[in-house]
Amino acid sequence: MDIKRNCAKAALKYIENGTMIGLGGGSTIAHLIRFIKEEQLDIKVVTPSWETKQKCEEAGLTVIPLSEATEVEVAFDGCDQVDEHLHALKSGGGIHTDEKLVARMAKEYILLVDESKVVKELTYEHPVVLEVIPQALAFVMNQRLDAERGEIRMSSDKDGPVMTDRGNLLLDVYVQGSQDGVRLEERLKGLAGVLDVSLFTSVVTGVVVADESGIREMTKR
Ligand code: 5RP
Repeated sequence: MDIKRNCAKAALKYIENGTMIGLGGGSTIAHLIRFIKEEQLDIKVVTPSWETKQKCEEAGLTVIPLSEATEVEVAFDGCDQVDEHLHALKSGGGIHTDEKLVARMAKEYILLVDESKVVKELTYEHPVVLEVIPQALAFVMNQRLDAERGEIRMSSDKDGPVMTDRGNLLLDVYVQGSQDGVRLEERLKGLAGVLDVSLFTSVVTGVVVADESGIREMTKR
């Protein structure tokens, strides 16, 4: 049984013909693109992900540049972990600034996950990622980050750091223990020179959770 595939299939019911939808990155979203193609849904897509854009175009879907979008009906995304308050930690892909922009444009922002990603409270076993303008890196690293360490994300394919599409750097912040996610997001995002952070505490409206036994949904209470 392919759990991610089942999860993507369960997302179809949220999509209405004639609308613009947001699609994030990852393997579950890739399944959803295949279903959208199979069902021949008449939708336009906005995406923060280069890979998703390629997959959508291969599937014959119309992709609208993010810079031209103002509102999307529903956006789907993956995450690394989500908790019962619908606080999510994202972005191994380092595209969280644009992912959060799409989330803010969306009337509904729905995460597609398998049960292993759902926890009672975020455990921060994945780092919180900060997109930082290069000029602010030393300043940001010098702040008390509630972290054991902040590590500049280095490229495995070239000498030097990973640069975002805007020429910024990614700082992986390893947060210690349990934290008030809302305050942590506010504080890290509030540092001068930080564009956005990969902690999403106020934008998720729903989660589709799949496991061996089926599908369940979590919504904002
Ligand atoms: C990374 C993400 C991705 O969206 C997520 O990892 C995709 O997961 P999957 O491949 O399981 O759908 O936010 O931080």
